[in-house]
Amino acid sequence: MKLLVVAGARPNFVKVAPILAEFKRDPDRFQPKFVHTGQHYDDRMSKSFLDDLGLGEPDIALGVGSGSHAVQTARVMEGFERVVLDEQPGLVIVVGDVNSTMACTLVCAKLWVPVAHVEAGLRSFDRRMPEEINRIVTDALADLLLTSSPEARDHLRHEGISDEKIHFVGNVMIDSLVRCWPLIEQSPILDDLGLQPHAYTLLTLHRPSNVDTDAPLRDIFRALAVIGHRLPIVFPVHPRTQKMIEQLQLTGALTAIPQLQYVEPLRYFDFIKLESQSRLVLTDSGGVQEETTFLDVPCLTLRENTERPITVTQGTSTLVGSNGDAIIREATRILDGQGKRGTRPEYWDGHTAERIVAVLKRVVGG
Ligand code: UD1
Ligand code: UDP
Repeated sequence: MKLLVVAGARPNFVKVAPILAEFKRDPDRFQPKFVHTGQHYDDRMSKSFLDDLGLGEPDIALGVGSGSHAVQTARVMEGFERVVLDEQPGLVIVVGDVNSTMACTLVCAKLWVPVAHVEAGLRSFDRRMPEEINRIVTDALADLLLTSSPEARDHLRHEGISDEKIHFVGNVMIDSLVRCWPLIEQSPILDDLGLQPHAYTLLTLHRPSNVDTDAPLRDIFRALAVIGHRLPIVFPVHPRTQKMIEQLQLTGALTAIPQLQYVEPLRYFDFIKLESQSRLVLTDSGGVQEETTFLDVPCLTLRENTERPITVTQGTSTLVGSNGDAIIREATRILDGQGKRGTRPEYWDGHTAERIVAVLKRVVGG
């Protein structure tokens, strides 16, 4: 079977790598091509991930770059339509909830090419999030809905998607972490940044609701100033956030935070190593919420809601929004040794790509 496996943005690379590796184990049956839309393009957001995750060069690169939602979505659709017409795949695999995910699904729906969506059924029920729109559209059009947690099936059923299209396969992002663990352990990043294990906070921020306006960023920085008095903070800055800090003239407020090191986005091995040894993680990232739950590291999720509630109900995450007082209160609790402990959700075990391929063999024939 000819397959196209689509990735465009940083978290997508982490999700497609184990799936492509699994297909390569059965070359007589599967002929996959890795399509990179180019939504993320800086070396630190793209190439370093392809290298660490063993993805190599993409088979097809669309090179769409940045733009407004409409422009970026349209560019992906134009480029991907040509690819589908040329390649005539039997199935297209999309992952996650970025603009590239939705754009490629829409192209396939119009060309009657079946789509499998990995990480289907997650819902924040907040349509101000661009990703929520991408999730709803992608799931409405996809032919196979591959889910990472049990509540996803209920959401999909509620939206009228028939049960036989839905398959609970687990969390493929965790497959990458498990597969790469021996190399992650060797990362020298703690020494490079002068950090001691379990004696620093790791921070990531990139949601438009946190970084595109002044007020939430200022309140988060106010909380960081308090946390920075207790232990060092490492902040690998996402390009969106970098751009907004400059535009909003908040560089001074950032550099005034005690013990804060801001660095470029980190490569995958280094970032997971830092995550695994953190005393506390502060984040608005979807993937980081999941990885901290897997690693049993306390996580404060700087959002009002999450499409990944299992990281709160079962995992190590606590939702705190961007309210400075709430962040300070919960961070203090964790630093005083009262951090939440969790358990690993079902099927977050490093074998999700195997289950995905098994479903494809069963359902689509392979
Ligand atoms: C995108 C996804 C988001 C995901 C995130 C992962 C959408 C709507 N958003 O958000 O769901 O959580 O990726 O990181 O799909 N930029 C660079 N270099 C790059 C990429 C982006 O400088 O390699 C800058 C550009 O100024 C760009 C901005 O970052 O305009 C935002 O990039 P974009 O891909 O539109 O959205 P993200 O915020 O990265
Ligand atoms: N990540 C990384 N380096 C960083 C920040 C994040 O390797 O500097 C990894 C992280 O471990 C996870 C993925 O990138 O695997 C999450 O991507 P991101 O937070 O950009 O997107 P989201 O998951 O919110 O869509």
